[in-house]
Amino acid sequence: MRAPLQQWSQQMERIIYCMVCGKEAPVDAERCLACDAPLHTEQQVTYPGLRRRCEQLPQQLSDRLYIVVLSFKELPDTSRECFRSIVAALSHVDCDTVVLASVASAEEAELIRDSDLVIITAGSPRKPGMSRSDVLDVNRAVIDTIVDQVLELAPDALLMLVTNPVDVLTWHAWKRTGWTRNRVFGLGGVLDAARMAYYIGQETGHSSRDIQTMVIGGHGDSMLPLFRFSSIHGINAEIVLDSEARTRVTERTRNGGAEVLNLREDSSAYTAPGAAVVTMVDAICNDRRQILPCVSVLDGEYSEQDTTAGVPVILGRNGIEEVIELPLNETELDGFQASIASIRADL
Ligand code: LAC
Repeated sequence: MRAPLQQWSQQMERIIYCMVCGKEAPVDAERCLACDAPLHTEQQVTYPGLRRRCEQLPQQLSDRLYIVVLSFKELPDTSRECFRSIVAALSHVDCDTVVLASVASAEEAELIRDSDLVIITAGSPRKPGMSRSDVLDVNRAVIDTIVDQVLELAPDALLMLVTNPVDVLTWHAWKRTGWTRNRVFGLGGVLDAARMAYYIGQETGHSSRDIQTMVIGGHGDSMLPLFRFSSIHGINAEIVLDSEARTRVTERTRNGGAEVLNLREDSSAYTAPGAAVVTMVDAICNDRRQILPCVSVLDGEYSEQDTTAGVPVILGRNGIEEVIELPLNETELDGFQASIASIRADL
């Protein structure tokens, strides 16, 4: 028999993660189904219905970073309480300090003081039918305010942009800071590459875990999934997928964000972006020097200057340790340049 509506919504709103292995656990479980760790109150983080892009952060963080997630959204009191409970729960994670904060006033902005990494997710999400560029003006104002506070309170931080349009806002944030370019970067390609891997998995029937992908260019409609630099367990994706399949994967990858947006109607995606943030934070936190596609300021790479774009970089403790130049062929270069032109149009 179906549970009464109220009970349903309570269940829907409460998610518990095991703080030992990070797996989601049923709300009423006493032990984690995955690793059998007891689910004591202190080992749980609850998210009562909060739509947050970084909801998976506490599962996978370790080491010694100070992290603050900023949001300038006006939050209802219940959500603020929730953030406070997250902050409290996170103090038990094996990090020196991890703070996730909703900053809605100058007083709360104090929370970012001396942060090593600030992740900006604040801003208006687009609505169905809107492109990421359509929220540029409103979100630029939000970013400017936050960047000024970062400059004042966390002048030695790395700055990761998540807010859209991320390529353009990463550029503006970088200009505003005046910092070296390695310290200011954005999320785009890690998410797009995950979507591409999923869609290749759909085409081939293989697990997306075996699929390595590369997506460059802007985090928008002109992003460029690169099949020549993607593989299924080492077998080049161009060998596995015919050109019709490649076209379908390209289209779906480009529209992946819009697909979620249209289904949710009042919110853009946040779970997969959260997972992508975790991947990037983990690379920085643990100085993994991972090769990941990220939004980076270009300084001559790919013969481009004075712009940002999604490119493969080495991501480590200093942020972007190095931009990697792929040997693109003529068609790929044309697509990349067209994508950069669409970023430039908004700079
Ligand atoms: C997306 C948003 C986060 O691609 O840009 O889902």
